[in-house]
Amino acid sequence: MPDEPLHDTVAGLLQRRFNEPFRIDAAWRGLDELARIAGHSSHRKFRDEPVAPDLLRALCACALSAPSKSDLQQADLMIVSDGTLRDAITPLLPDMPWTREAPAFVVVLANGRRLTQLAARKGTPFPNDHLDQFFNAAVDAGIVLATFIRAAEAIGLGCCPISVIRDHAATVSTLLGLPERVIPVAGLCVGWPHFPNRITPRLPLSVTVHENRFDDSRSAEAIDTYDRYRETVLPYAKQRAVADFGERADYGWSDDKARQYAIPQRADFGTFVREKGFKLD
Ligand SMILES: Cc1cc2nc3c(=O)[nH]c(=O)nc-3n(C[C@H](O)[C@H](O)[C@H](O)COP(=O)(O)O)c2cc1C
Repeated sequence: MPDEPLHDTVAGLLQRRFNEPFRIDAAWRGLDELARIAGHSSHRKFRDEPVAPDLLRALCACALSAPSKSDLQQADLMIVSDGTLRDAITPLLPDMPWTREAPAFVVVLANGRRLTQLAARKGTPFPNDHLDQFFNAAVDAGIVLATFIRAAEAIGLGCCPISVIRDHAATVSTLLGLPERVIPVAGLCVGWPHFPNRITPRLPLSVTVHENRFDDSRSAEAIDTYDRYRETVLPYAKQRAVADFGERADYGWSDDKARQYAIPQRADFGTFVREKGFKLD
């Protein structure tokens, strides 16, 4: 609806996402940005048009303008522009052809190296060599990832994060020349979307927003309702692990996520991270 007032657009998008009403005040500023955020969608099919290097560079700069824990700046971005390198990475991810087809591919890195280098250069001790350093770098990387997507979507680009590169963390790390204490957090496909945005419903706020005291005593019921709503707007095209768990007529998000986590994945990631020099204790 091109002439729809923006506050109605935001309310409509959130209603569709969360299956509950929202009061959006027409006087609030930034409704165009809220509409973009509320209308977010990952994209896995792209038009055959390049993303200009200058644009990609500007998006990296916007992404790295995100807040950073203690201003430590422990997230980096790697633009994979070399076709031969892309050709070496994408066969590792055969189930995700969008990693091959996306006009641009970026890898978000957690960088715990710079800080230890600073300590060495300045001759200061480094007693904080424990899980918190890894955690801070990983959180910074996640924030940079989300900010990159937000900046890209403002331009009209579409993105798809790719955590599956961590199934091959050591190989990807070698291909990208990642040194000690630098690890890949996620890849990011970037391109001009082929399809319009598709809203993926999220869990209701009664499940995910808490006030003053954590309470999930009524979550199970709300999640069942969510499963049913999601089935009406975005049913799963395919059920996961049918050989192990069978077909279900009422297959929903809970089944899908329970089945996803019933299958071991990346059990060696901790070993990889430790071998990269992070201390996880
Ligand atoms: C850290 C992270 C890693 C992800 N990894 C993958 C991936 O490996 N492959 C993929 O197709 N989508 C991946 N996604 C996209 C999610 O599947 C997607 O965000 C989710 O299904 C919700 O859909 P939406 O983004 O369209 O709302 C990832 C998302 C995030 C935030």
